[in-house]
Amino acid sequence: MYNGAGKQNLLMSRIIAVFNQAGGVAKTTLTQNLGYHLAQLGHRVLLIDIDPQASLTIFMGLVPRELEQTVHNAIVEE
Ligand SMILES: Nc1ncnc2c1ncn2[C@@H]1O[C@H](COP(=O)(O)OP(=O)(O)OP(=O)(O)O)[C@@H](O)[C@H]1O
Ligand SMILES: [Mg+2]
Repeated sequence: MYNGAGKQNLLMSRIIAVFNQAGGVAKTTLTQNLGYHLAQLGHRVLLIDIDPQASLTIFMGLVPRELEQTVHNAIVEE
């Protein structure tokens, strides 16, 4: 991103993906805690849950079936 001042914008976003093919090894837990601590450090954080289990959504205190729009809508519906 160019900020118009001749320097690259240092606020460019970064994507962090946590993956491991093994199940139940704390991928979601690590993602939640990483997001929390980055936010505590002052970073703007967007946690994206594309797991049909919706564990991250639940860990964050939300009830998946009560959400009007989710990533599911963006992927499945036109
Ligand atoms: N450090 C830890 N100590 C004890 N239990 C933990 C720890 N980290 C995670 N857990 C527990 O282990 C279980 C699996 O964690 P988590 O859901 O984060 O794994 P996952 O890799 O995302 O699983 P899945 O493959 O099903 O998506 C959860 O019940 C979680 O609370
Ligand atoms: Mg998980």
